[in-house]
Amino acid sequence: MRFNQTKIKMDFQDIVSHCKEYGFIYQSSEIYGSLSAVYDYGPYGVQLKNNIKEYWWRAMVQAHENIVGLDSSIFMHPQVWVASGHVAAFNDPMIDNKDSKKRYRADHLIEEFYVGKQESKIEKEVEKAKKRFGDAFDEAQFRSTNPRVLEAQVKIDEALRRMNEVMNNNDLEAFKALIDELEIVCPVSGTRNWTEVRQFNLMFSTQGGGSVGDDVLYLRPETAQGIFVNFLNVVNTSRQKIPFGIAQIGKAFRNEIVARQFIFRMREFEQMEMQFFVRPGTEMEWYNHWKEKRMNWHRAVIGDNSTHRYHNHEKLAHYANAALDIEFNFPFGFRELEGIHSRTDFDLTAHQKLSGKKLQYFDPELKESYVPYVVETSVGCDRMFLAILSHALQEDIIPNADGEDATRKVLRIHPALAPVKCAVLPLVKKDEALTKVARDIFDRLKYSFECQYDEKDAIGRRYRRQDAIGTPYCITIDEQTAIDGTVTIRERDTTKQERVAIEAVEKIVAERIDMRTLLRTL
Ligand code: GAP
Repeated sequence: MRFNQTKIKMDFQDIVSHCKEYGFIYQSSEIYGSLSAVYDYGPYGVQLKNNIKEYWWRAMVQAHENIVGLDSSIFMHPQVWVASGHVAAFNDPMIDNKDSKKRYRADHLIEEFYVGKQESKIEKEVEKAKKRFGDAFDEAQFRSTNPRVLEAQVKIDEALRRMNEVMNNNDLEAFKALIDELEIVCPVSGTRNWTEVRQFNLMFSTQGGGSVGDDVLYLRPETAQGIFVNFLNVVNTSRQKIPFGIAQIGKAFRNEIVARQFIFRMREFEQMEMQFFVRPGTEMEWYNHWKEKRMNWHRAVIGDNSTHRYHNHEKLAHYANAALDIEFNFPFGFRELEGIHSRTDFDLTAHQKLSGKKLQYFDPELKESYVPYVVETSVGCDRMFLAILSHALQEDIIPNADGEDATRKVLRIHPALAPVKCAVLPLVKKDEALTKVARDIFDRLKYSFECQYDEKDAIGRRYRRQDAIGTPYCITIDEQTAIDGTVTIRERDTTKQERVAIEAVEKIVAERIDMRTLLRTL
């Protein structure tokens, strides 16, 4: 069979449209005009999201004897957020343009509209040189020697260095001066008529009633604090010894100043976090351990060495003594996908102080008590979803039923994560004997994994529908089935078909989609 695997990567807008068109993601409250930066997951979206969470949970909790799970509440005592530092310091710097009335995060303004501009200058130079030199072009050498590229790179480094400095010093006047000096204009009004830079607390709050009186309650901005305040409960009830981890998946809420880029930056999102409690002094060893482990977890399902990279933090959060991001190359460039933080004993010590309860661990080997240090891994489930979608969605050129080239949209999601594992398709709807066999197969498979039965439209269109939602296998029941009890299994990525006995289908598909195979590679 002729198969032209011309893979065309889709741009960001295609991905957003695909999510809506195929029932992965909808805007929240759409019939009322939507709510900015809040999204709902549709039928395939929720399946994929559940599979991502299962992949994380099994890799972190099930596969580690020394990691246990937790599901803590979203509302917590308001003092939790005082102790954690969020009430005082969970801020982002914001700035408004007086003409367009648009609000921006001051650091994003520099990153997107100054650093981004310099980066595109560099890319333009590289593209021009590629065309000029053809096959003889040495990109690495060009990037490290071309004067225009080097000049732009110096500007980027200097702008980021100064931005980090003003942020570390919390010097909002210097921040504004830097924006003026870099001559950043508002992309909407085209002017440089900026307000001062102000700090904006990202926590949503509401009012409690009953036993908490009229106290302000916060919607948690991270799941981690639920783990810290339950540290002693888990130590006393789980028989875990340090080093050990507590993991949880749950919603978090942040009143992001500017929430663009679809589900990349949302106001309500889901985190998958693990706090690993260690002996003081061993935290860097564990930090490096989890840094590697988490990168492997990502690369096992998407991409290769070019899709992910580490980014060490220069500006550390108020709780960290070392921190890095695992970045993914999203359609809009490399951005944070997961954070790995060495949080020291900051949180437990702060809760100990404010609550008056000892949050210490008695180490039976050292025969002494101490407040453990913590290494945290924290990945956004929604960002992982976006990374998977943007990597997997491609356009192929394959032959249609008449042998002519036709394009198809195909989601090359890892089979263990695919929302639907298998579709059962009788070749023709009118043949009752065939549809009965197909129904019987579907009824048998549906208890093993997520299946779909589809008899509507020509077979080519049904394959396209399954390709678009990432179904790795299609079972087709045709005339040959009535003769010898065999069916075909079509593989999504190659479109290759193999003929197998009906009795073998369940075992074959079950083996190929089995998450255990993936987990064993980690
Ligand atoms: N407990 C540490 C913590 O919350 P973070 O770097 O602020 O650290 C961790 O967040 C992860 O949560 C990020 O790497 C990202 O994947 C996800 N995340 C953070 N803010 C988000 C938002 N507004 N929308 C979607 N995901 C977000």
